[in-house]
Amino acid sequence: MRLLVCGGAGFIGSTFVRLRARECGDQVTVLDKLTYAGRLENLQEVRDDIRFVQGAIEDPVAVAESIGGAEAVVNFAAETHVDRSIADPEGFIVTNMQGTHVLLEAARERGLRYLQVSTDEVYGSIDDGSFTEQSPLAPSSPYSATKTGADLLVSSYFHTYGLETVICRGSNNYGPHQYPEKLIPLMILNALAGDRLPVYGDGGNVRNWLFVEDFARGIAHALAHGRPGEVYNCGGPDECDNLTVVRRIVELAGADPDLIEFVTDRPGHDRRYSLSSAKLEALGWQARVRFEEGLERTVAWYRDNEWWWGPIRSGGYREYYERHYGRALKA
Ligand code: NAD
Ligand code: TYD
Repeated sequence: MRLLVCGGAGFIGSTFVRLRARECGDQVTVLDKLTYAGRLENLQEVRDDIRFVQGAIEDPVAVAESIGGAEAVVNFAAETHVDRSIADPEGFIVTNMQGTHVLLEAARERGLRYLQVSTDEVYGSIDDGSFTEQSPLAPSSPYSATKTGADLLVSSYFHTYGLETVICRGSNNYGPHQYPEKLIPLMILNALAGDRLPVYGDGGNVRNWLFVEDFARGIAHALAHGRPGEVYNCGGPDECDNLTVVRRIVELAGADPDLIEFVTDRPGHDRRYSLSSAKLEALGWQARVRFEEGLERTVAWYRDNEWWWGPIRSGGYREYYERHYGRALKA
């Protein structure tokens, strides 16, 4: 298949591109702005097999330049970190909403299939049970609100213009190549370096963990088999509270448990996410990697791949970290 993959230099997008280029022999063009989270290092294994265009999805010229020949658009491109969206929401509105609109217009003009990568955070927090695709949308943060806005726009292009859209909503992903502002890679790198491990609030917030390769396969499945106009949830096989996750990382990294430090909670912090994936499972997708196995693989990957994270921990990320957590990382 000929695919335009937007945001393909990020964590999940690059996992999807590696899968499609290697296992499916697709012709892939990646359009990516290369923000702090987008890195060509993520694509180095498939660099000779794909076309890469540096540009923003909210820029119609860059989109027109990269979309030629594509049969489908898969949109991963987004500002993705909740804490950054609380500190400075504007960029989230531009990329997540305006950018999605530009892509939808380009897909509509050319009659292309369009898959929007979305998140369980559009449903908000749930105390018991799991969200289905019918659950009301109740986002809490500027990040999730802009992802929800984008989803609604995508659905409107199906209903109004008959564009062949599919939305795939994933739960919290983890795995190799995730930028260390997110819980799991941040805790792994801090544990390996002997830096403190900042747990928000009481550490009792629960996330539904999904190994990144399982999400990439779920998106590929929804792209191939999803019905136009439909939403498919793609949730991980296990749920775990943050403190348990961090304690397990401490064990796997051989770090000192006293590094764990409870810090001021995130404003508006969602307590629990949980997704029912029954609809995508009925199409034939199944998560393959349980959390315990995936976490071990992820810790091993970060331990073995300092070439990937070394430049991040010594670059602009240090300033972000100091500003956000009020303490410097070890040199
Ligand atoms: P990421 O932050 O690692 O990567 C985002 C990518 O988008 C980067 O390569 C970045 O350079 C690119 N990008 C940002 N703004 C852009 C713009 N304006 N134009 C073009 N490219 C731009 O994110 P991720 O974790 O890989 O998430 C990918 C998608 O999956 C997002 O849409 C996110 O909402 C969704 N999602 C993420 C998770 C998760 O746990 N990480 C879970 C469910 C859904
Ligand atoms: P995160 O990885 O930012 O994903 P999301 O907010 O999209 O779920 O955070 C996962 C959980 O970990 C969330 O409950 C917030 C918590 N967390 C911490 O306790 N400490 C941290 O330093 C970070 C980044 C997150």
